[in-house]
Amino acid sequence: MNKIKLKELGIKTIQGIKDSKYGDDVMPAWIADMNLEIAPCIKTGLINMVENSICGYPQTPYDLNLHKIFKHYVKEHFDWKISSENVIFLKDVVQGICRSIYSFTNKGDSVLIQPPVYQPFHSLVNDTGRHLLYNPLIRTENGYQIDFEDFEKKAKSAKLFIFCNPQNPTGRVFSLKELIRLTDICVANKLIVVSDEIHADLVLSRCPHIPLASIGKDIARQTVTLMSASKAYNIAGISLAFGHLESAELKNLFASQAEAIYGNQSILALEAVRIALTEGGEWLKNTLGILRKNRLILQKHVEQNWNHVKYLPGEGTYLAWLDCRNVPTTKSLPKQLLSQSKIAVTEGDAFGAEGEGFIRLNFARNTNEFLTMLEKMDKVLRHG
Ligand SMILES: Cc1ncc(COP(=O)(O)O)c(C=O)c1O
Repeated sequence: MNKIKLKELGIKTIQGIKDSKYGDDVMPAWIADMNLEIAPCIKTGLINMVENSICGYPQTPYDLNLHKIFKHYVKEHFDWKISSENVIFLKDVVQGICRSIYSFTNKGDSVLIQPPVYQPFHSLVNDTGRHLLYNPLIRTENGYQIDFEDFEKKAKSAKLFIFCNPQNPTGRVFSLKELIRLTDICVANKLIVVSDEIHADLVLSRCPHIPLASIGKDIARQTVTLMSASKAYNIAGISLAFGHLESAELKNLFASQAEAIYGNQSILALEAVRIALTEGGEWLKNTLGILRKNRLILQKHVEQNWNHVKYLPGEGTYLAWLDCRNVPTTKSLPKQLLSQSKIAVTEGDAFGAEGEGFIRLNFARNTNEFLTMLEKMDKVLRHG
């Protein structure tokens, strides 16, 4: 009776933005969604729910003990000991960043970020009427480094620091030594930190991911940690993120508006995340194997075939940050890759002015497909 004919309305079956933004003939390597199947256990769990029409209002994440599951997960994965009472639930990580900006700063206050960095770090600060303060990462022969002297200067006037680790787009996973130096400065300046650790599980080298708040008691008291299953388990559209806050003062500020303004988590998200954290380990292990292999293939391919491109692989994420400033057609490169190679990448300047002449390439797809992708890119990037 009320069946709407989607075709007549010109509406296609729903797709993710990864696949719908460009034509069907384009391989997407732009947005940070994997081009891989999700874990079978998550798929089965969601199918079971839908088959049983479990699509009504959910129990709370606390009823489902998701805060305790998260506590065990971070102990097992990052050796981070937390109390489950300090865990909160968010729709997504970007919401957590935005809520932190509103909760801990006022209009006109300075918020420190380290470009090149995930675009919303820039736009959220602008959109909330705060002032952006930059501490650009420094590109060296050994990869990107934090400019600590500049950070120390800027930390004096900033009200909030939005940190990204593992870092998008450079792939850096910061070492204990770097984190200690960084946290010492934050503590000395009472600088509140939002630590976006959404890529925490995607570490490809031997060094582990270290949550910033695990460095010491002082930094834990002035940090909001944001994590999520969405990147590592490829369920970003499911929308659920975890926040961790220890200090009563920050918790009070964070809770200053009625919770309803932030909405609830969907019942499907709760189940998908519960399954990811409790049953997704084997799938994640295999996926990390694919990512490590692809990263190595990319590194060799760039060295052997793309003379004008430089790639310093970071320790984590499935995002490669390629320095294409010496490519003769650098300005039009993303457009050329799209039109000639049928590959969609992200333009580097989306991450800040420091990214001009770079492209970000998502290498999370099965290895055979990835080899095809590189071959297609050769058309534009292989020079003499
Ligand atoms: C560093 C970083 N933070 C946050 C997000 C988005 O997270 P969410 O979808 O949970 O808002 C991304 C997505 O790519 C990201 O790379």
